[in-house]
Amino acid sequence: MRQKLVAGNWKMHGSQQMVKHLLEKMLSQQAPSAKLLVFPPYPYLSQAIQLLAKSEIGIGAQDCSQADEGAYTGEVSAKMLADLGVSHVLLGHSERRQYHAETDALVLEKAKRVLAADLIPVVCVGETLAQREAGETNKVVLQQLTPLIEKLTLAQLQKVVVAYEPVWAIGTGLTATPEQAQEVHAFLRSVVAKVDKELAAKMLFLYGGSMKPDNAASLLKMPDIDGGLIGGASLDADQFLAIGKAAE
Ligand code: PGA
Repeated sequence: MRQKLVAGNWKMHGSQQMVKHLLEKMLSQQAPSAKLLVFPPYPYLSQAIQLLAKSEIGIGAQDCSQADEGAYTGEVSAKMLADLGVSHVLLGHSERRQYHAETDALVLEKAKRVLAADLIPVVCVGETLAQREAGETNKVVLQQLTPLIEKLTLAQLQKVVVAYEPVWAIGTGLTATPEQAQEVHAFLRSVVAKVDKELAAKMLFLYGGSMKPDNAASLLKMPDIDGGLIGGASLDADQFLAIGKAAE
């Protein structure tokens, strides 16, 4: 059995006050049996780590540099994130791909750094509306996943989490139907199964894209949907925990 993982991607939202309020509210409520994880913006990682020190809630960063260290002004390395105490790093989110021209090759380089720092990469894949309408969904996600499965070792792949986030569903209120999401998740798992069946059976595939308390249960009960990557609804403790409970 794969333990469900419900992760909150806060994107570029928050303040010290908001982080305190949100995390204290989460801590005051009964934790769901699903594993919870939050991805605060860099400046609030330390604060989140301190606030969550005694809890089971994991903390991840939203990105990292492809470089190890050196003259890369403005960048943050996976090594620094590990030093700080985060456990996961989100990579290849569609907003990074769209606004920062991140390619699959770059995402692979970043994933290698994350793994070398002994952290878990959560790699996002997903098609645009035009690509879905052109019937290219599987082709697109396959192209995004392939560099990882070709270039990482089996031991490295065992640590990778994949998030399927159809670009047309992110922040739009449009959610993939449970059947649409399941179809892509099953396809991605079948691709991994060609590399190694046991790896595929254990790998976590999260769904992201307007997941809310009212649609979470139907998505999370699908056999190949192992959790969620939640944007908007993760900024509200009640909604985020409700999604965590829907995963039980
Ligand atoms: P959303 O964002 O839940 O607001 O659609 C998901 C994401 O981008 O990770």
